[in-house]
Amino acid sequence: MTSFSLGDTDFLRDGQPHQVISGAIHYFRVHPDQWQDRIRKARLMGLNTIETYVAWNAHEPERGAWDTTGWNDLGRFLDLVHEEGLDAIVRPGPYICAEWHNGGLPVWLTGSVDGLRSSAPDFLAEVSAYLRRVYDIVAPRQIERGGPVVLVQIENEYGAYGADQAYLEALVAVTRDAGITVPLTTVDQPVDRMLRDGSLPELHKTASFGSRSTERLATLRRHQPTGPLMCSEFWDGWFDWWGGVHHTTDVHAAAADLDALLAAGASVNIYMFHGGTNFALTNGANDKGRYLPLVTSYDYDAPLDEAGNPTAKFFAFREVIARHAPVPDELPPAAPAAPAFEVDLRAAGAWTEGEGIEPRTALPQTFDALGHRSALIRYDVELPTEHGGLLLIGEVRDLAWASVDGRPVGTLSRTRQDRTLRIPPGRTLSILVEDQGRVNYDHRLGEEKGLIGEITLDGAPLGGWRSTPLDVAELAAGVAARATADGGGDGPSAWTAEFALDAAADLFLDTAAWSKGFAFVNGFFLGRYWRNGPQRTLYVPEPVTRAGANSLVVLELEQVLDPVVRFVGGLALGATEE
Ligand code: GLA
Repeated sequence: MTSFSLGDTDFLRDGQPHQVISGAIHYFRVHPDQWQDRIRKARLMGLNTIETYVAWNAHEPERGAWDTTGWNDLGRFLDLVHEEGLDAIVRPGPYICAEWHNGGLPVWLTGSVDGLRSSAPDFLAEVSAYLRRVYDIVAPRQIERGGPVVLVQIENEYGAYGADQAYLEALVAVTRDAGITVPLTTVDQPVDRMLRDGSLPELHKTASFGSRSTERLATLRRHQPTGPLMCSEFWDGWFDWWGGVHHTTDVHAAAADLDALLAAGASVNIYMFHGGTNFALTNGANDKGRYLPLVTSYDYDAPLDEAGNPTAKFFAFREVIARHAPVPDELPPAAPAAPAFEVDLRAAGAWTEGEGIEPRTALPQTFDALGHRSALIRYDVELPTEHGGLLLIGEVRDLAWASVDGRPVGTLSRTRQDRTLRIPPGRTLSILVEDQGRVNYDHRLGEEKGLIGEITLDGAPLGGWRSTPLDVAELAAGVAARATADGGGDGPSAWTAEFALDAAADLFLDTAAWSKGFAFVNGFFLGRYWRNGPQRTLYVPEPVTRAGANSLVVLELEQVLDPVVRFVGGLALGATEE
């Protein structure tokens, strides 16, 4: 039997001082057939531990529909970590932040209970049921029971959000009741207030930061005089938002900071070791006064890039780690060149019609009210006069394309704080609204999506809205089965393509010839693309491709500039600041 505990200055593994050298891989951002490859490469960089969050909304997108198969097979992920001879850290939230949709909380939950991330009884009841399910998987895989799990984290950077100690106490009680016996940690930014509010005396405090290691460890030490020092999120890169730059960090500076941490004897979890991808519609958003939806790639400028290939940071970190711990001699194989080729894109007609919901309502129905989990709702209303007028909307969440009698008349963007639009003469106003990703940090967590608040035309309330939820994955499947149609022109258009491969392979789909939309390969939802950038390529994981015929569906919301599909040799994640 192996044990893992807190000593006066170190973690103790089987009673011996042990430095945790961990890296984050989120199983829900990596194709399950690639988990083993990524975990193996972590070992080859010298890591002795893998950390993952648990994304509640991936396991239970609909209330009661708890899933632990395929992409959600957390048990298998942990078993693979174990088979590779590594330890594991599990961070089940329930809130995980992570640039993940709604910070991991299911929309059915945030739309139905008050008091998120607090001891409010309804919230706690749901959270407890969730945690018990997660711990059914985690408890038997703890180190003392012959498994890999050495630490479990309570909540996530809670000190940045609240100060409800009863909430944290309740989470601890559920965790211990479920048979979790390993040490429990919390993580907070190294700010006095956060370190104070985000934890409890019985929990082991750790910190999150990406630079100035020595100073940050000193702050953490002030809040916790004994026990191992740990940076639970050593930020080695950063995430990107649409319309911004691609964030990178200097390899030497990151390596020097890691070296300082390890030299101080601290334990570390590198966030991220391998970021992966926000496939489908799983990206989150930030809003600290300005709504910034996050891109599809979660490359994070990590040691393994989005496609799982080692970067310069991998080799620099490996060298640093080798100064402090044994590192295997073996190196990961070089990535094979990705096939680069072009094929034609064929127009497949319109795709945003759909059956509206009756009866009409005074206000457009929100995504939440309709329990709609896909990206789009179309709202239609008859205009009271044929003269048009000035449209004023309470709040647009998040991006809207307006048309009158089928002619595009403008867009409204939440990021730009747009609320008004001049409506030309006509009869029917249609507004197609995209939920660009739920906020994952701070107090806008869980907010509703759609057209929010009252809508007026020249000051008079505009009512009688028909709401038409559009499930983009379902629509793409329908398009794939369709014959070629007329296409192009203005407004939403669907497109298909076929391409042949000699063998299954990672592909990089260049989206620069299109505007904004969603792409699918062999029915697998790659995610959103947008010429706004910075991201230009969508990563197509090898396991979703096959030797022989493959198919692509593109659901374009604006214009296709050039009806061509380009696969390129590697990732193009956009301009950096350097
Ligand atoms: C915090 C959160 C993480 C992640 C990082 C930024 O540390 O705990 O989930 O959001 O910020 O990438």
